[in-house]
Amino acid sequence: MVFLQLIAVLITLLGVLMIVVNRKPKNYPKGPLQFPLLGTLPQMMWHSQVKNKPRRLLHEKYRRRFGKVYSLRLGPYPVVVLTDHKLIREAWNNLQICGRPKLHGAAARTNGVVRGILFMDGEEWQEQRRFALRHLRDFGFGKRSMENLVMDEVTELIRGFRRDAGSPISTQTRFNVAVLNSLWSIVAGERYSHDDPILQEIIKSIHRSLEFRGLVFFFPWLKDIFPKLSGWEEYMKCMPLSYEFLNKFVKGRLAAYDGGEPEHFTDVFINEIRRTMDPNSSFYKERGEATLTATLLDLFVAGIETTSTSLTYTLLYLALFPEKQTKLHEEIDRVIGSRLPTLEDRKRMPYTEAMIQEVLRFSSLVPTGLVHKTLTDVTVGKYSVPKNHWIMANLQGVHHDPEIWGDPENFRPERFLSDDNEVLKHEALLPFSFGKRVCLGESLARDELFLFITGIFQVFDVQTDPNSPRPTTEQLNSNIIAIPKPHQLVLKERHKE
Ligand code: HEM
Repeated sequence: MVFLQLIAVLITLLGVLMIVVNRKPKNYPKGPLQFPLLGTLPQMMWHSQVKNKPRRLLHEKYRRRFGKVYSLRLGPYPVVVLTDHKLIREAWNNLQICGRPKLHGAAARTNGVVRGILFMDGEEWQEQRRFALRHLRDFGFGKRSMENLVMDEVTELIRGFRRDAGSPISTQTRFNVAVLNSLWSIVAGERYSHDDPILQEIIKSIHRSLEFRGLVFFFPWLKDIFPKLSGWEEYMKCMPLSYEFLNKFVKGRLAAYDGGEPEHFTDVFINEIRRTMDPNSSFYKERGEATLTATLLDLFVAGIETTSTSLTYTLLYLALFPEKQTKLHEEIDRVIGSRLPTLEDRKRMPYTEAMIQEVLRFSSLVPTGLVHKTLTDVTVGKYSVPKNHWIMANLQGVHHDPEIWGDPENFRPERFLSDDNEVLKHEALLPFSFGKRVCLGESLARDELFLFITGIFQVFDVQTDPNSPRPTTEQLNSNIIAIPKPHQLVLKERHKE
C-alpha cells in the first residue's frame, strides 16, 4: 500500500514537473514534448541513434506538426528553429540575434579561452570579422594571384587522380590537402606537399573535431565524471594538434617578420598587433597573438572540410546523374577547351554555375548552419524569443521544401537557369547562411569550387564503379557538416593521347 502511494506521489510529481518544464513564454514557438533536464534530446537521440534515421526527417516531422518556426531544448539550452527563408533573412540581419553560444568545447580548442571569429560575438567578433574580411580580400579572395595558387593545387590533385585513373577510389579525403594548401598560401604564403604527414594529421584532427558530438557539450560536468565514456578525452586528444601547429607558425613568424612589406594575411595581422596600444583591443599584445592563432584555426576549421566535402558531393552527384555530367563536359570543352580554367570563364559558363548552386542546395552541407544566440529579448516574425536562447536556421529544410522548389529531391541544375540560359539567383538558396554572420569565405569557396570542378571534369569522366555497391545520395547523421555515405568512384581520362 505504502509502495503504491509512493508511486502515485512520484507520478504526480513527474506530471507537475513535466507541466512546468513544458510551459513556454508568451508568443513563444510550439515544439515537441520536453523532458526535465534532457529537454527534447531523448526523442532526437532515439530518432538518429536508435532508429538510425536522417536527422532532417525529424526536423521535417516537426515542421509539419508545428509550422516553420518551432522550439526544442538541447539539455539546458532552449532552441528556436527557423525553416522559413524570409524569417531566416530577417533574423540573421538583426545584430541582436547574431551571438554565439559559449560552448565548453569551443574554449577547449584554443587553450581554454574563446577567441577568433567563429565562436565569438560582441565587439571583439565585429572587430576581428571586419579585419579578416578586409585583409583576406587584399591577399587573395577573388584575386588573380589566388587563382594561380588554386590552379597549382588543382594540377597536383589531377596528377594524383591520373595515377589512380580506371581504379575504384574513395574521393572523400582526396581534396582536403589541396583545399588546405590554397587557404594556407593566402594566410601564410607557403604550401605543403600533398603527402606531407603533418598536414594529414591536421586534417584528421579537424575532421574528428567536426565529427565529435555527444552529451558532454550540453552537460560539461560529464567530462569530469566520465572523461573517456563521454568522449571528452578523445576530443581533447585531437583538438590541440592543429592549434599547436598554428601557434608554432605564429610564434615563428612573430620572431622572423621585421615589419617590412607584408607578404600575407598573417603579416598584416602582426603589424596590427604591433601597432595596437589600446589594452582593450583584441589585437593587444599576447591577447592579439592568441587571437591570431584562433583566427587561423577558425579559417582552417570552417574552410577546409566544407569546400572539400562540396567537391566530394559534386563528383558523387555527377557520377550518379551522367546526363548532367555530359552537359558540364560540353560546356567545359566549348568555353575552356584544353587550356587551364580561369575565373574569367565563370561568366561564360552558366551551366557550371547552375550545377554548383544545385550541389550546394541538394547536399545542404551545413544542414542547420551554425547556431546563433539572442543577445537581448527579440522578435522573430510573430514570435517573441527571450535573451540567451539559441536560434538555428534549418537550411536543409528550406533547401528541400517542396513548396519552394517543386521537386526538391531531384538533382536538377536547370532549376537555376532562365529560358535565356542566364543563371538565376534564388532567395531561398542559403548554403552560406545570410546576414551579419554570413560565411566569411563564401567568395573564396565559390571561386575554388569553380576552379576545382572545371579543372577535374576537363580531364576526367567520373563514373560509379560497376563492381561496388551503387552509391546513393544519402548522408551520414553527422554533426555540423553532412557527409555522404562512404562510396567508391572511378575516374577515367577523357582525352588520353
Ligand atoms: C562550400 C563551402 C562553405 C560553406 C557551405 C560554408 C558555410 C558556412 C555557414 C553556413 C556558416 C554559418 C554562418 C552563420 O553563422 O549564420 C559559415 C560561417 C563561416 N565560414 Fe563558411 N562555408 C564554406 C567555406 C568557407 C571557407 C572557404 C572559409 C574560409 C576561408 C569559411 C569561413 C567561415 C567563417 C570564418 C565563418 C564564421 C563567420 C562568423 O561567425 O562571423 N567558410 N560558413
